[in-house]
Amino acid sequence: MAKLAADLERGSTPEVVLGIESSCDDTAAAVLVDGHVRANVVAGQEVHRRWGGVVPELASRAHQENLVPVVHEAMRLANIGPSDLTAVAFTQGPGLIGALLVGACFARSLAQALSVPLIAVDHLQAHVLAHFIPGQGKSPELPFLNLTVSGGHTRLVLVRSALDMQVIGTTRDDAAGEAFDKGAKLLGLDYPGGPLIDRWAREGDPKRYALPTPRMDGLDMSFSGVKTAFRDLVQSVSGGDPERLNEERAHLAATLQNTIVKILVERTKEAVERTGCTRVGVSGGVSVNSALRSEMLRAADTGEWSVHFPRPEYCTDNAAMIATAGRFLLHAGIVAPLDVVPHARPPKV
Ligand SMILES: Nc1ncnc2c1ncn2[C@@H]1O[C@H](COP(=O)(O)OP(=O)(O)OP(=O)(O)O)[C@@H](O)[C@H]1O
Ligand SMILES: [Mg+2]
Repeated sequence: MAKLAADLERGSTPEVVLGIESSCDDTAAAVLVDGHVRANVVAGQEVHRRWGGVVPELASRAHQENLVPVVHEAMRLANIGPSDLTAVAFTQGPGLIGALLVGACFARSLAQALSVPLIAVDHLQAHVLAHFIPGQGKSPELPFLNLTVSGGHTRLVLVRSALDMQVIGTTRDDAAGEAFDKGAKLLGLDYPGGPLIDRWAREGDPKRYALPTPRMDGLDMSFSGVKTAFRDLVQSVSGGDPERLNEERAHLAATLQNTIVKILVERTKEAVERTGCTRVGVSGGVSVNSALRSEMLRAADTGEWSVHFPRPEYCTDNAAMIATAGRFLLHAGIVAPLDVVPHARPPKV
């Protein structure tokens, strides 16, 4: 509270936004003071590891346990108290409904108790707006194309302004993150498997095996066929023998990663050609992937377009992106009523 007191003495009233994220299996809170991240706290949920994926009911319970301590920790790190808050932003959806309800109920109650504006944020819009979290160097200039690639979604978005986004391509079935996670499970790796595939792939030959790269109409993508083909490949290579799987794990991980990255980079290149937009952003959890980053940079170099990635901690679920998106809405005068409800699915586009 010391810094805020000093700001007030200087005569300025800082804008202090609390962001709350609870759409899946990360409970997160962040404090932004005049747009700058003062605290960004994320509590993961170990409880899902033994199930090899997120169990919705367990996620809701863990959010209930974690949310108050996480918010307290964010406010402690930011050196603020509840009365310093000028707005509360939370993830309205899409996500797991029970998980979203925990964050929504908390945010609604807090905003009501403090008589401050409540802001309902779209999680996928926030993944895009993560580019605008300060302290990361240059953010992409508007308009730009964004490849949003996360655990539950994969889409190409034309970003005209912070609040004007058009989906121009999407996966027809699974998300790329899901293909990484399911592929990792087939290789006997823990959940979430994306980061582990990334690590194993470094030791493997991506050309040792081949997987199909399905072609969809327009700018759409598909990953369910890749997942099935990978399951068959793992079975035929290992024959169910754990020793053989151990020997080939790195090559199989590299093959899967290479295939997913190829689909994502090819579609992004086509989106650049079709739209003529030469500024590209990549965000969401899968954008942490080292091969995706290097292949995108390579494609951008040859295609003479620019590519931007948020810092890794702003790619996976976090509340700094929720608070940042909340600020854009607040400044546009878009405030939620106190009886606002979360939604599990994205609104129709
Ligand atoms: N280095 C990496 N390589 C590949 N995938 C990764 C890497 N790091 C994280 N991921 C993947 O990112 C996903 C999590 O990202 P994120 O937190 O954005 O998704 P989510 O919030 O669960 O889904 P959504 O945003 O669609 O609701 C997981 O599928 C995870 O495996
Ligand atoms: Mg997410």
